[in-house]
Amino acid sequence: MSAAPVIWRNTRIATCDAQGQRFERGALVTLGDRIEWVGPEAQLPVTASTQHDLQGYWLTPGLIDCHTHLVFAGHRAGEWRELQAGASYAQIAQRGGGILSTVRATRGASESELFAAAAARLECLLAEGVTALEIKSGYGLTLSDERKMLRVARALGQHYPVSVRTTFLAAHAVPPEFAGRADDYVAALTDEWLPALHAEGLVDAVDVFCEHIAFDVGQAARLLERAQRLQLAIRMHAEQLSNIGASQLAARCGALSCDHLEYSTVADVAAMARAGTVAVLLPIAFFHLQMTQVPPIAALRRAQVPMAVASDCNPGSAPSASLQLAMAMAARVFGLTPEEVLLAATRHAAQALGEARRGVLAAGYKADFAAWDVSGPEDISYWLGRNLCRLVVRGGVVTQGNVPA
Ligand code: NIG
Ligand code: FE
Repeated sequence: MSAAPVIWRNTRIATCDAQGQRFERGALVTLGDRIEWVGPEAQLPVTASTQHDLQGYWLTPGLIDCHTHLVFAGHRAGEWRELQAGASYAQIAQRGGGILSTVRATRGASESELFAAAAARLECLLAEGVTALEIKSGYGLTLSDERKMLRVARALGQHYPVSVRTTFLAAHAVPPEFAGRADDYVAALTDEWLPALHAEGLVDAVDVFCEHIAFDVGQAARLLERAQRLQLAIRMHAEQLSNIGASQLAARCGALSCDHLEYSTVADVAAMARAGTVAVLLPIAFFHLQMTQVPPIAALRRAQVPMAVASDCNPGSAPSASLQLAMAMAARVFGLTPEEVLLAATRHAAQALGEARRGVLAAGYKADFAAWDVSGPEDISYWLGRNLCRLVVRGGVVTQGNVPA
């Protein structure tokens, strides 16, 4: 039996489409998991036996967290004290802490333990109106532990009402087994691990931590070239701590996104603009690591590079499971306007994931949306630590909150 249309009425709608359309007295029609129609309620083109009164709430696309390391075991609260006392992220990493300390904890955790730990964080994101997210591997750093992480990421998407995109980030740190042999490690990733995990259906994209404390441009290029041959999307941790040419390489490879970008130059921005690459900004990591150099926001704006914002949820640089906090901080710390912030967590975040039919409220798009008890969608980034999301619909089905029939 085919689905019957459902009307969602008495709502104010921020479509987040390219025209920036908003409807003060709006309505939306869904058919199954798709949006059929959006517009002024007075012009509703259909009647339907199922109608929901959204009580004048603002409606936005479901939020999209396009950069997370949600799956990990343990925590790094001890290292945070060192950061507070003046140590740098790079210093902690260079003495075997940092990412490698989370690798030790993650290797020691079973799949079900990892699932439970990540699920608790995911539930926080879902309560905030998140309907899609990206989850990276990168704390396993053996073939079987990377597989374990990616399987947990896929399982989260099966057990929770959220769409999960997985990213292979084994090029996150050189594991102890390959100490002093980074080239051999990259060869193993390129020739064995990535093809194997891709064949198992566990990988949607490939990411590299391209940085002076991690992998250089030549190593990244070899892995990304294989990703391209496998027709996998490319992301890049670029210019977080220094500039070694990461986003220039990513742009040459047609990357979907370059993420962090604190040390990016105007030339890097131009390369991203030419390649259609999204700039993913991670203000929680910037804030937590007490950094001082902000990404080149004005240059990104001038070059019309789409800006996305994400939580970067991870135990080292962004111990937070709040996309709303990242949005609030993108406005305060990076100077994005509230309108830019809203697009950054919807349409532009979808673009960073290569999701053509998400992040906008328009006919043909996924029926993923959130209703907010706010005076305008700008309030989502105005409030700090106050969640005003009242209802979440994912694939046309209410997944959080209640709506009167
Ligand atoms: O996005 N910088 C590399 N990756 C993460 C941090 C990972 C970690 O410290 O555990 C980031 O900041
Ligand atoms: Fe990250």
